[in-house]
Amino acid sequence: MSQLLHQLNVDLGERSYPIYIGNGLLENPQLITDHIHGSSAVVVSNTTVAPLYLNKVTAALQTQEIRHDQVILEDGEQYKTLHSIEQIIDVLIGQKHDRRTTLIALGGGVIGDITGFAAAIYQRGVNFIQIPTTLLSQVDSSVGGKTGVNHPQGKNMIGAFYQPQCVVIDTATLNTLPDRELSAGMAEVIKYGLIHDADFFAWLEHNIDGLMQGNNELISQAISVSCQTKADVVAIDERESGIRAILNLGHTFGHAIESAMGYGNWLHGEAVATGMVMAADLSERHGWIAPEVKQRTMALLKQANLPIQSPGSMSPEQYLEIMSIDKKVDRGVIKLVLLEQLGKAVVTGDYNPDLLQQTLANS
Ligand SMILES: NC(=O)c1ccc[n+]([C@@H]2O[C@H](COP(=O)([O-])OP(=O)(O)OC[C@H]3O[C@@H](n4cnc5c(N)ncnc54)[C@H](O)[C@@H]3O)[C@@H](O)[C@H]2O)c1
Ligand SMILES: [Zn+2]
Repeated sequence: MSQLLHQLNVDLGERSYPIYIGNGLLENPQLITDHIHGSSAVVVSNTTVAPLYLNKVTAALQTQEIRHDQVILEDGEQYKTLHSIEQIIDVLIGQKHDRRTTLIALGGGVIGDITGFAAAIYQRGVNFIQIPTTLLSQVDSSVGGKTGVNHPQGKNMIGAFYQPQCVVIDTATLNTLPDRELSAGMAEVIKYGLIHDADFFAWLEHNIDGLMQGNNELISQAISVSCQTKADVVAIDERESGIRAILNLGHTFGHAIESAMGYGNWLHGEAVATGMVMAADLSERHGWIAPEVKQRTMALLKQANLPIQSPGSMSPEQYLEIMSIDKKVDRGVIKLVLLEQLGKAVVTGDYNPDLLQQTLANS
């Protein structure tokens, strides 16, 4: 039977919404139906997730006789396109869904980003609910309201800030998630400890084995702290004009790895893990953190089965070239998220370029 372990609130004035976290929550129809205000809904999922969990969601809708349609997209980042948006809109219009309909995203970050964007633009905005089913989407993409799709020339180039009515995180969905995807999500969990919460980092060190073995209570706790951290940061800076950028720890280095190695060969979380080690290395070279912090970071990431070494094939020049076209460049200086101490990150262009060179050459 379902068990509600944690509920937290993303505090954004009239756009505030709850996040429910627990094992078996999809067995509790009310968590979904209470947040549907019209009498119809469209569930968006993909060919991997739909066979596993779609029936639980449609069963919930049936309890309140909510008319529903479904859109099952192909699985993969390469389908995060305007074409998928069109497919969703075609169903919405074809089945006469009006402005009171609700879109329900059932899947990982790809499905969440696509569905949120479709909800943001259909008839200038309809409600949507996030049911994230990967660890990464549970701790990251489902919180914060960034939605969108890719353009052939760039990732996430088309999108909107748009907040859901609620997020329902059923940790039981992680039981079917491939181990590698679980690890990739754990990289973002560890990130929250590094940037914001030294105690949480220590808690992760203490519990990493149980987390990797899928201990439900521990995972719920880790997701809850992660969502709360992201929610707190987003509440201060919803549109990323300042502090929200600390959430990108390891991401500038990581994006360079993803891009150089070919998207999909390194999972995002894997690239971010190595990127965080590089950020820690550069912070250590400045004398901002003790060597021990980098050692602890590497040890924890390793226990989460994440890579901690930059691909041997990548040169400092290649990093710099890719990093300088990344969007965080400000007047010629690449801004980086670095650590001032364990649990405290800063966004800065004020670092020594020679030390950056050393990090790139030695990671
Ligand atoms: N909006 C944001 O703030 C934000 C933040 C971070 C990432 N993102 C986006 O999120 C996407 C990555 O998300 P992701 O890592 O969840 O990838 P994903 O959505 O591609 O999911 C990874 C894989 O796991 C499968 N899957 C999902 N749930 C499963 C389950 N319970 N059991 C078995 N298989 C399952 C998926 O079908 C897919 O094959 C990227 O497009 C990224 O840009 C967005
Ligand atoms: Zn990330």
